[in-house]
Amino acid sequence: MPYPLIGSSPMELDEWSDLKRYASELKGATIRGLFEEDPGRAERLRCVAGSAVVDFSKNLIDSSVVGTLVRLARRRGLEDAIDAMWSGRVINTTENRSVLHVALRMQNGPALVVAGSDVVAEVNSVLERMSEFATSVRSGGFRGATGRPIATVVNIGIGGSYLGPEMATYALADYATRDIDFRFVSNIDPAAIASVMESCDPETTLFVVASKTFTTLETMTNARVARQWILDRLGDREDVIAHHFCAVSTNLDLVSGFGIDPANTFGFWDFVGGRYSVDSAVGLSLMVAIGPERFRSFLAGFAEIDAHMRSQPLESNVPVLMGLLAVWYRNFWGAQTQAILPYSERLRRLPAYLQQLVMESNGKSVRLDGSGVEYNTGAVIWGEPGTDGQHAFYQLLHQGTTLIPADIVLFAEPVAGPPDQQDLLFANGVAQAAALAFGRSEADLRAAGVAEEVIPHKRMPGNRPSTVLLFPQLTPRTLGSLIALYEHSVFTQGVIWGIDSFDQWGVELGKEMAADLVGPLVGARAPDISGMDSSTAGLVAAYRRLRGRPNS
Ligand code: F6P
Repeated sequence: MPYPLIGSSPMELDEWSDLKRYASELKGATIRGLFEEDPGRAERLRCVAGSAVVDFSKNLIDSSVVGTLVRLARRRGLEDAIDAMWSGRVINTTENRSVLHVALRMQNGPALVVAGSDVVAEVNSVLERMSEFATSVRSGGFRGATGRPIATVVNIGIGGSYLGPEMATYALADYATRDIDFRFVSNIDPAAIASVMESCDPETTLFVVASKTFTTLETMTNARVARQWILDRLGDREDVIAHHFCAVSTNLDLVSGFGIDPANTFGFWDFVGGRYSVDSAVGLSLMVAIGPERFRSFLAGFAEIDAHMRSQPLESNVPVLMGLLAVWYRNFWGAQTQAILPYSERLRRLPAYLQQLVMESNGKSVRLDGSGVEYNTGAVIWGEPGTDGQHAFYQLLHQGTTLIPADIVLFAEPVAGPPDQQDLLFANGVAQAAALAFGRSEADLRAAGVAEEVIPHKRMPGNRPSTVLLFPQLTPRTLGSLIALYEHSVFTQGVIWGIDSFDQWGVELGKEMAADLVGPLVGARAPDISGMDSSTAGLVAAYRRLRGRPNS
């Protein structure tokens, strides 16, 4: 089927009605029962993508559901959509852009000519420059204005220019240089940049200003404060900036207007969305941390999943199946949220990263042609690492009244610490998936001698779906693969729903309104509140009062 089917709704397809019927039939079944009926289930629903083994068997699905979801994907044009993305067709139609984050990891690949330029060659040339710069910072070749080597790298950026670098730098801390400390400033809360200025030495601090647009209020405000801090302490000269600032952006004119040396500026392109950019120059601080070679291995991990996504039939295509399951639970089981449960301390920030990836991509309510959807789209993403979450919110996962499909991410080898402790971590992850799926029956409790009056409280209903993603170890390569799995899952969902997963217009209004409110908040005289709603006017007045500013 050609993609996109402008304006058409997936609900018009027979597959949609079939899936509705299957869901109501399966509501009377149990995951335990599905395993009992089909001894080959675990094996059949276990797929491999790169080094990941993905066990889909503990989901509320059977072969009819999987077959119908795959047919739905075909009828929505997913195969053509994949070709369209990889060949640089303009699939982000509301911004009139190609979507080519996959080109960021086509290292040494053949040319990909889009709008007259070879994207792969451009990507490789930026990678080369980043590698030289990162090596120089790591080796002490690149020095601060007073001649001292860099000891702290501070990434200033927000959204996609922050979440990816921060998540990945923390995830790969065990592969990072110990000579440099990495800090991330995103929030416009003045306390965020203040903590850097309080604790870092300006002589040995390098700021990476990361912003696709180089206009984002938070980033530019924090960058200006950092710039002044450096100039105040090291001398008010332009050459000082060259020793303490570098930039990552698509807007090279604004970067040079800020005074950052073009030699220390790393570009990327409009066809890379912010939330898809950790593997572009936006990953510069990560590259300084782990070194260029490991960064290339990070890219190779993405590429491995890209190859799988392109070549694997939909029936055994892991990111496609992940995306189809998200649709299944969202549209046919009424699931509002999806939990991300990495059994890895180092993946502490993965849920926050995926929140932007999924929710900014698929939190949409109109199709590509602007017609409204009559079905639910992107779920709320949340989570915490296991085992921490087990002692906090898993109670609700096990016995609450809400269906929450969970992704459980596991690793066989530890990255640090006593190796035997990994056995305990792994046991917990696998046990949770089984407990969620199979629960514990009243009969079992009775047989174990549990007092009758507490049986209803101890009964575990089970039937709570999860997918287990198992990797050999958290490495640069497997982290790249993990991210790519979610990127392509998000794309799959967007194609089924017929929405633009690559724009983010919904964030603009709040930004504009904040800009308009600054004047009324700070003015020396009572502000004109005539255009404001009464609630906002009251809050403005209260703020002014608390800050000692007149209201009349
Ligand atoms: O406000 C949303 C957003 O545009 C995200 O999509 C983006 O990742 C973030 O802001 C930061 O944007 P920039 O990299 O242009 O500063």
